[in-house]
Amino acid sequence: PETITIQELANRMSERGVDVIKLLMKQGQMHKITDVIDADTAQLVAEELGHTVKRVAESDVEEGLFDTVDVGENLTSRPPVVTIMGHVDHGKTSLLDAIRKTNVVSGEAGGITQHIGAYQVTSPLGGKITFIDTPGHAAFTAMRARGAKVTDIVVLVVAADDGVMPQTIEAITHAQAAGVPLIVAINKVDKPDAKPDRVRTELLQHSIVVESLGGETLEFEVSAKTGQGLETLLEGLTLQSEILDLKANPERSAEGTVIEAKLDRGRGPVATVLVQRGTLRTGDIVVAGAEWGRVRALINDLGANVKEAGPSVPVEVLGFNGTPEAGDRVAVVESEARAREVTEYRTRQKRERQAARMGSAGRTLADMMR
Ligand code: GTP
Ligand code: MG
Repeated sequence: PETITIQELANRMSERGVDVIKLLMKQGQMHKITDVIDADTAQLVAEELGHTVKRVAESDVEEGLFDTVDVGENLTSRPPVVTIMGHVDHGKTSLLDAIRKTNVVSGEAGGITQHIGAYQVTSPLGGKITFIDTPGHAAFTAMRARGAKVTDIVVLVVAADDGVMPQTIEAITHAQAAGVPLIVAINKVDKPDAKPDRVRTELLQHSIVVESLGGETLEFEVSAKTGQGLETLLEGLTLQSEILDLKANPERSAEGTVIEAKLDRGRGPVATVLVQRGTLRTGDIVVAGAEWGRVRALINDLGANVKEAGPSVPVEVLGFNGTPEAGDRVAVVESEARAREVTEYRTRQKRERQAARMGSAGRTLADMMR
């Protein structure tokens, strides 16, 4: 049955909780502000106080929250969002760090202060490229399972001294399943035992045919250590993204995805959000998963405060009331009431799912005892 707390009912009507309690008291019902009443009673109360009531099915709550695609006018080019994948120790993090270092002008506001989950660089061909450092395949899979398609291009890192390994193959499978184009970065070519050609033939066995072997997959020999090939890799990414013709409407309310989130002792919940459509602004009311908040500050990848963030821009968002989860989709809503409605619905769903899991765990335990 549908229910609502007296506090929430009062909030939605912009009435005082005590007035709702008084009204219920007149009808012979004694309640505290935290009590739950049924939808029929709530409707009577609301009408008594002169409000119009529109009851919606619970499952309708999410209606219209996400568009997932932009259509029509105001479509403009946006930077590609690139994820780096590959086998353990093949140099994913080193490559990201090297790309960022060669790109960030030393002395620029903030410089490289800390390791962050997402950042933008400028391509030698002009235009920006957004990189996401996913903490691993698990996170990528989790995001995809939730329907959050954040990546436009996957860079597959293969160490030239080690070759194609199990997680290389896994990454290929992920990219293919997600329908995302793949670019190969043959890394560590500075090493004496590097065998880049062996990597090319090994990839062939996994139906990746690189350009130099007559195929369509762009491949680049790089070294995160010496910086060799990094500019060419960035150029390749820009060319690939031009083929994809990526567009978004910056002139609408923002939608995006949480890349990572943490509870910071000083700043409270901090979520790194990749804006995918629209423009996110300070003061916006956002929901992400079962959490919501009013955007208090936006901090870019150089640690600077910004007023807004458009499509493909990663920003740290401050102001959430709780810590959302990586992979949670972010949407701007028109009011706090709407934000509460959505997050309360999701919290209830989460609780029910947990209860269901506990239930089945309990049964298993009981079965084991037999
Ligand atoms: P995981 O996150 O553990 O999967 O590893 P990773 O893929 O991020 O590799 P990481 O960047 O941590 O590099 C692993 C090791 O390889 C480190 O010791 C790096 O210094 C070294 N390394 C990375 N790139 C290069 C390179 O181009 N040349 C050489 N010589 N060493 C490299
Ligand atoms: Mg790493």
